[in-house]
Amino acid sequence: MKGVILAGGKATRLRPLTFVTNKHLLPVYSKPMIFYPLEAMAKAGVKDVLIVTSSEHCGDFMNLLRSGQTFGLRLSYEIQEEAGGLAQALSLARGFAEDKDKILMILGDNIFRHNLKKAVSDFQRQKKGAKIFFKEMENCAQYGVPVFGGNGKLLKIEEKPKRPKSKYAQTGVYMYDDRVFDLIKKVKPSSRGEIEITDLNNLYIREGTMSYEIMGGWWIDAGTSYDELLRANNLVAELVKKGEL
Ligand code: DAU
Repeated sequence: MKGVILAGGKATRLRPLTFVTNKHLLPVYSKPMIFYPLEAMAKAGVKDVLIVTSSEHCGDFMNLLRSGQTFGLRLSYEIQEEAGGLAQALSLARGFAEDKDKILMILGDNIFRHNLKKAVSDFQRQKKGAKIFFKEMENCAQYGVPVFGGNGKLLKIEEKPKRPKSKYAQTGVYMYDDRVFDLIKKVKPSSRGEIEITDLNNLYIREGTMSYEIMGGWWIDAGTSYDELLRANNLVAELVKKGEL
């Protein structure tokens, strides 16, 4: 299994913090934000990781992370020319995945406790399809939100719905089989002109090959607002001081 971390995008919600630097290089207590998903990859046992970012900031990531040796990882880098959406960013990993590996993708602004090791080995055994992770959240409208049928069957994901139909957020952790790159080609741009991860995930759901898990522990998408970035800083500081992180 190979890993992909997305660290591109424009991060307009965090301006002016992100006018001259990349969101994933901002501090979350004692480390740059991107360290946390990299550590999650290492804990999951995925060694080969591709970082997708913009041309403006790729050099900063290479200076900071270099070969990835200090994380126990082998890092590669890919440039996303325009912020064309999460699934478009993932499509750039096609060569890296050599068209046959399964992929664990983590968004570069997601920080969480859950160890993905077991889910990775479960997914290695899943014949085909994808796996996503949900977390119960108070305000779901800013995330992808799953819609469930009566028996807990996953019917679809709605991206940033005005009226969420469940209390769960789609987290930024995704696992895909080797067909993902062909499936991305079938996804049409959304009204905001992006190739959306949620539309890709809905293709797998319609095919009946999407599995899901509820994520344990805490989870933060630190890139959504100043308040979430602050919450991430405070939570990580508290856990580090308690020796729990
Ligand atoms: O964090 C979970 C959420 O992530 C999900 O609930 C949503 O369904 C999913 O669409 C996504 O929503 P966000 O609004 O948080 O996406 P954002 O624009 O913040 O981008 C997520 C990450 O992907 C971020 O680390 C930047 C990176 N990115 C984004 C875009 C649009 C890229 O690398 N390239 C891109 O083109």
